[in-house]
Amino acid sequence: MVKFSGKLALLVAVLLVFSFGMVTNSRADWSGEVSYQEDVYPIIHFRCLSCHKEGAEGTNQSGLNLETYEGLMKGTKYGPIIVPGNPMISNLNVMVEGRAAIRMPHNKRRLNPCDIKILRQWVHQGARNN
Ligand code: HEC
Repeated sequence: MVKFSGKLALLVAVLLVFSFGMVTNSRADWSGEVSYQEDVYPIIHFRCLSCHKEGAEGTNQSGLNLETYEGLMKGTKYGPIIVPGNPMISNLNVMVEGRAAIRMPHNKRRLNPCDIKILRQWVHQGARNN
C-alpha cells in the first residue's frame, strides 16, 4: 500500500489547487455574452447581499443596495460604482479586485478569479440588464 508522506500530500494538494485555478481561469476566458440575470446576479446574491440589502450594514453605511439591477446601477450615496464599458475605473471592479484600500466582500474571503472576470466582462460589455 502506498503511504503518502506529509510533504507529498502537501505537494499534491498544492498542485490540485493550482490546476483548479487554471481550469477556472480558462473557463472564464470564454468570450461570449455575460448575462446579468444568469451570471452576475448569482455572484452578488451569494457574496454581497448579506450586507447590501435593505437594512443591512453595507447598505446602511454606503447606501449601496444590491438587491436589484437598478440599485446596483444607482450606486452608493456618493454616486455610481459602474462606468459601463470601463471596468478599469468602475468602483465595483476596483473593489472586488482589491485595487482599493478597502476590499469587497468586506472582511470576507475574496471572490474567486472566475467571478472577478465575469464582473469585469459584464461591465466591459456595457453592464446591461440582460
Ligand atoms: C460582510 C459585509 C459585506 C459584504 C459581504 C459586502 N460588503 Fe460592500 N460594504 C460593506 C460595508 C460595511 C461598507 C461600508 C464601508 C465603508 O464605507 O467604509 C460597504 C461598502 C461597499 C461599497 C462602497 C465603498 C465606498 O467606499 O464607497 C461598495 C462598492 C461595495 N461595498 C461593494 C460590495 C460588493 C460588490 C460586494 C460583494 C462582492 C460586497 N460589497 C460585499 C459590507 C459588506
